[in-house]
Amino acid sequence: MKFENYTSPLRGEISVPGDKSISHRAVMFGALADGTTEVTNFLQGADCLSTISCFRKMGIEIENTPEHILIHGKGLHGLKKPSEILDTGNSGTTTRLISGILAGQSFQSVLNGDASIQSRPMKRIMDPLSLMGADIVSMKENGCAPLMINGNSSEKHVLHGIHYLSPVASAQVKSCILLAGLYADSPVSVTEPELSRNHTELMLSGFGADIHSENTTATIVPDPKLTAMKIAVPGDISSAAYFIAAALMVPGSEILIRNVGINPTRDGILRVAKQMGADITLLNEKISGGEPTADILVKYSPLQGIEIGGKLIPSLIDELPVIAVLACTAKGTTVIKDAQELKVKESNRIDTVANALEAMGAHVQATDDGMIIEGGYPLNGAVIDSHKDHRIAMSFAIASLIAKSETEIIDADCVKISYPNFYETLNLLKK
Ligand code: S3P
Repeated sequence: MKFENYTSPLRGEISVPGDKSISHRAVMFGALADGTTEVTNFLQGADCLSTISCFRKMGIEIENTPEHILIHGKGLHGLKKPSEILDTGNSGTTTRLISGILAGQSFQSVLNGDASIQSRPMKRIMDPLSLMGADIVSMKENGCAPLMINGNSSEKHVLHGIHYLSPVASAQVKSCILLAGLYADSPVSVTEPELSRNHTELMLSGFGADIHSENTTATIVPDPKLTAMKIAVPGDISSAAYFIAAALMVPGSEILIRNVGINPTRDGILRVAKQMGADITLLNEKISGGEPTADILVKYSPLQGIEIGGKLIPSLIDELPVIAVLACTAKGTTVIKDAQELKVKESNRIDTVANALEAMGAHVQATDDGMIIEGGYPLNGAVIDSHKDHRIAMSFAIASLIAKSETEIIDADCVKISYPNFYETLNLLKK
């Protein structure tokens, strides 16, 4: 897809699609609850559709209409053995969270996904699940999917309680273990090095689970009765991030993004942008279904480079590609560190971002745990390979706004993973 250079301000009011992390969890927990869970503003992205398809294959009836989705849950022990492989597509969240649930079932199952999923690390969930007594194997013995999970039909409680010290701050790892904890014989705790997104803890508690958190440790008590609920999914701050960056970069811009989730475990982009000098105002702040939301008003602002690392990283991990683009317009140096997790996302995002920025003429140096960007150099148009990574495609569609010539993005349609109407929304703001 080609993007001509663009010079006028971006203006308008938009809403972004429902939060991806929350949409996945709504389907999964709804399937394990008794009764019908109704979800509004569900993200109709390919990743969340993969989650729906996996649960349908395990006997859960899910109605997906433009108005809402209805998940007819069958309780904690109501899943059926799937008659085929569970295809998780491009979705790390589906693969890792479902593994925790499957570890507690009495049947055998096989999970597999696309080429990207087949190269992403699964040992990080296989290790703790094995410690809990699960039988989970990487079928190619390379620590990646396809994964075979052999449930145990002979005992009621297959899994054992543990307190797991996770080597990575990963909500997918934490959630996988907590979900397996639903089926354990005693409480399960996970301590992470830094706090990752806490949607699992908040939502499972809403469904009636006994789950609590203290600092970076979350603990779940097994065998709860989960009861269906209504979930209004807030707009995804990770999708809003592209328009926040666009407004900050294109002179004269002003964009209002309505109803965005601003959970403190996800709002790192707002904190970083403000520290860089961004004019961002939160309006209409409220709590919806346990998750804080706000309308975000963003105005073009001259920015200053900063250092981004430590605790902040998990709260903006998915936004780092577009933050790197933003840093190109800032005065001075931006250092992104402690972000080695970027290497194991849908693509190796340290390499894919640094290479693409370099192709556009940015002054960027990839490091082992992030990158260093010298801001203030103009960007040129270039041919950018998205590597079929949705966040790379969207970040560089935003970069193209300030490039001096045309940009072409290869496999630009991969945005369907998390934001099917991304280009339409961008075009709305150009008018
Ligand atoms: C997610 C957690 C994060 C994030 C991903 C969604 C989740 O991954 O990057 O897009 O929904 O739990 P990690 O847990 O691997 O950091």
